Amino acid sequence: MGSMSKQSPDRLTIARPDDWHLHLRDGAMMQAVAPHTANHFGRAIIMPNLVPPVVTGAQAAAYRERIMAALPDGTPFRPLMTCYLTEETDADDLEIAHRDGIITAVKLYPAGATTNSASGVSDFDKVRPVLERMADMGLPLCVHGEVTDPNIDIFDREAVFIDKVLKPIRKKVPDLKVIMEHVTTQNAVDYVRDSRSNLAATITTHHLIINRNHILAGGIKPHYYCLPVAKREKHRIALVQAAISGDKRFFLGTDSAPHTDANKLLPCGCAGCFTAINTMSCLAEVFDAAGKMDKLENFTSLAGPRYYGLEPNEDTVTLVKGDPVDYPDHVDTADGPVTVFNPGFPLHWRVE
Ligand code: DOR
Ligand code: ZN
Repeated sequence: MGSMSKQSPDRLTIARPDDWHLHLRDGAMMQAVAPHTANHFGRAIIMPNLVPPVVTGAQAAAYRERIMAALPDGTPFRPLMTCYLTEETDADDLEIAHRDGIITAVKLYPAGATTNSASGVSDFDKVRPVLERMADMGLPLCVHGEVTDPNIDIFDREAVFIDKVLKPIRKKVPDLKVIMEHVTTQNAVDYVRDSRSNLAATITTHHLIINRNHILAGGIKPHYYCLPVAKREKHRIALVQAAISGDKRFFLGTDSAPHTDANKLLPCGCAGCFTAINTMSCLAEVFDAAGKMDKLENFTSLAGPRYYGLEPNEDTVTLVKGDPVDYPDHVDTADGPVTVFNPGFPLHWRVE
């Protein structure tokens, strides 16, 4: 599994990237956004937080069909499906779906943690038998790592989740392969770094770029509001250090989460940044600024498949550096416009 990376100062060829955490939604929204991910990415882990959520293998299979139908014929993109873990999840159903290649992972949302998470888990002991079965069959658990206790400050919810929920789960089910998703804190980076096995983390594009000032200083910016919410600058720096380090336990999960502007710009607006279109340009800018373009392929294309026990994509993409790239500021959908993530700096790299 050698690196395919070929580099000059203004060109970089890497194995085609994958997105290990993606929201494609359904219906008109999916029609509009799915082709953008399929343009650059070979595979993506598809989040199951539809309304109602994707909880059974049969529902995951049907959702996969709808995704493929939203893409042009012959698109090589492969959606890797997940089931949403509830306190009623049937381990036999997961086992069959896993055996038949329908699902790649199971998603744990603490009840009430984020968009459409009402069916999530409140009592972690109730799902322990399912987690033990997943450990036996080698089916990974993707975790939204935030507690939902209203008494816990929103900026502390990830750090508290690690101590109060994740450590106990991993102690009780040590063979369970866990992905801590969209990590936003130095605490999470340290926790993953200190682990011996069965733990990795995804990092989003936007959390490598924004801190909480971007959301709140100089006027509220709903398009930068996502969950987990961006933290202080020192945490953003810790995420960048993890991403550019070449450590195989950190890889890209964009958490690209489209909502219409009408749903973002409300007195109680939805959480999510839509980055599917310009993620590769944003990442290249971040890695280039750090002088670590040679580590981009690990983050986007090698570390993820390795952790999931899959081969990297066989084909490649080439990034080219030049004059700033123009991206549309929004994508039109039949439900209304969706604003594209604005990194706040020019993007010089594009996918050829
Ligand atoms: O910002 C987010 N948006 N975070 C999540 O965890 C869910 C996602 C969504 O589905 O909109
Ligand atoms: Zn998400």
